[in-house]
Amino acid sequence: MTLNIPIIDRQHHQLFMLIDQLSKMRPSGSSKRNIGKILDELIEYSDYHFCTEESLLRDNEYPLTEDHLSEHALYIATIGHFKKEFDRTYERDLDSLSEITIKIHRYLLTWWSEHIAQKDSQYVDYIKAIDIGEQ
Ligand SMILES: [Fe+2]
Ligand SMILES: [Fe+2]
Repeated sequence: MTLNIPIIDRQHHQLFMLIDQLSKMRPSGSSKRNIGKILDELIEYSDYHFCTEESLLRDNEYPLTEDHLSEHALYIATIGHFKKEFDRTYERDLDSLSEITIKIHRYLLTWWSEHIAQKDSQYVDYIKAIDIGEQ
């Protein structure tokens, strides 16, 4: 979904590229380290994206900023929890690792698709209305 704010669209695109990379990986003795790395990268990049978005919301005095920020915080907590679960499973059998990887991938795909379609598009509508002088 494109929101027509280039910096935000680019970052969302990057996030989906990482999520897509995750979907293509099946845990094996040699690849499981890479899955962990992608998860770390996703967490780091999500944080970076939220910082960009949060300053955009504050600069535009978006009235639902706090609500939006608490969604981001909930995501950060959930993904952190999943990463810990992944780390705990790391030394166990590959089937368990595959299961948790699929679970994380599903969560990421759903969360980002819904958040962008519902919450991000809401602030974009608001900012565009300011730009054309409606707010
Ligand atoms: Fe957001
Ligand atoms: Fe976003």
